[in-house]
Amino acid sequence: MNVTISQLLIVSYDDILALWQQCEGVGLSDADSRGNIQSYLDRNPGMSFVATSDGRVIGTVLGGHDGRRGYIHHLAVHPDCRRQGIGRQLAERCLQVLGDEGIRKCHIFIFNNNAGDIAFWKSVGWTHRTDISVISKTIEAHKD
Ligand SMILES: CC(C)(COP(=O)(O)OP(=O)(O)OC[C@H]1O[C@@H](n2cnc3c(N)ncnc32)[C@H](O)[C@@H]1OP(=O)(O)O)[C@@H](O)C(=O)NCCC(=O)NCCS
Repeated sequence: MNVTISQLLIVSYDDILALWQQCEGVGLSDADSRGNIQSYLDRNPGMSFVATSDGRVIGTVLGGHDGRRGYIHHLAVHPDCRRQGIGRQLAERCLQVLGDEGIRKCHIFIFNNNAGDIAFWKSVGWTHRTDISVISKTIEAHKD
């Protein structure tokens, strides 16, 4: 398969969302609206990538940082295109650009029940941290 990796642009949003909806480990929410993804890309220019084959979107990764640590979200490869090294290439591209920005560590959030995904990250050299928990709170819209 001929695969091209290029910058993820908002013009591909519909195709990207369709891919995410087919990938079981990608948790989608209102944070993934077109406007929010546009905002994410604006805040983290050149750090998110898309894999295409024959013009079809088959993989994505969102990359960014907060000035001290990097974060990867929504690494996803179409179910028909897995185990061909596409996920590895997408993750590596992200780490490359984060490293170029001086970021020295990158984190991801994954569901504990996603054994295949955890196996993937370990296989590509990441460490599965079990000493950290994620604690979250919803922020209500401010009513004036
Ligand atoms: C995780 C995911 C992105 C991996 O993409 P991929 O293109 O298949 O990964 P690669 O081909 O680069 O895999 C590299 C290595 O990771 C390991 N690996 C990948 N998927 C695996 C799985 N399901 N089980 C065990 N090991 C796996 C293998 O060692 C593989 O090398 P090999 O094929 O030579 O044995 C893909 O399975 C996916 O989209 N999953 C659903 C979405 C998801 O869970 N995303 C995570 C949110 S961050």
